Amino acid sequence: MSISIDFQQVCFSYRRDKAVLNNLNFIMPADKTILLTGENGTGKSTLAYLAAGLLKPLSGKVAYYANGQKLCKKEEVYQKLSYLRQKTEDNLLCATPWEDLALWLIPPAYKDSESDSVISDKLVEWNLEDKQHTPLWELSAGELKCLAFAGIALHPHRYWILDEPLSSLDECHMQRLLSTLKAKQDFSRGMLIISHQTELFSGLADEVLILGPEGTLSTL
Ligand SMILES: Nc1ncnc2c1ncn2[C@@H]1O[C@H](COP(=O)(O)OP(=O)(O)O)[C@@H](O)[C@H]1O
Ligand SMILES: [Mg+2]
Repeated sequence: MSISIDFQQVCFSYRRDKAVLNNLNFIMPADKTILLTGENGTGKSTLAYLAAGLLKPLSGKVAYYANGQKLCKKEEVYQKLSYLRQKTEDNLLCATPWEDLALWLIPPAYKDSESDSVISDKLVEWNLEDKQHTPLWELSAGELKCLAFAGIALHPHRYWILDEPLSSLDECHMQRLLSTLKAKQDFSRGMLIISHQTELFSGLADEVLILGPEGTLSTL
């Protein structure tokens, strides 16, 4: 089940003399797909880090809700949220594609016998079956991106935060990713997608937000 992520007067900066996010007040609802765009360096990835709870606001709050109830424990949030980071290698923890996908199924989402076939199917879907036991450092940037996304795709009910999901992908895998997002919306529409390729997501997004250089959001 997905969650809503609520930014309440959120300010953030890495350095004292430059605000990155400036008093952001907005909700990322469980039932809406938001597309976030903006120039390089405006703070989109920083916003994603805050939404995923990996950075804390300097002031203000990021709160999480499921079915109208506030979630107070981080573990509850992490069971309902999946985050594809912009730097692909930051998403991968194991030595091989098979092991990395297996990690996504802990705590066990399926019986042992089922999880093997779930992993196999995902590897086939993303053309990684021949590389399932290949060390990750031998995979190309595009293959690593497919693997990182295949893990996220194992949990379509969760809220997805996707930071530049199309980078490194060829046309065929871009289309596969876009159709996976469309299929995910049948489970839950809750997504924050960060991209410069806004036209490719126009059929999926319920709302398009732009992060400006002053660290504030506007609607397209
Ligand atoms: N870890 C960091 N330490 C200091 N400054 C950072 C760090 N990460 C990002 N920045 C700076 O914060 C600003 C926003 O970065 P980022 O959120 O990555 O932008 P975007 O994703 O919109 O391109 C940039 O000016 C960047 O240089
Ligand atoms: Mg970024």
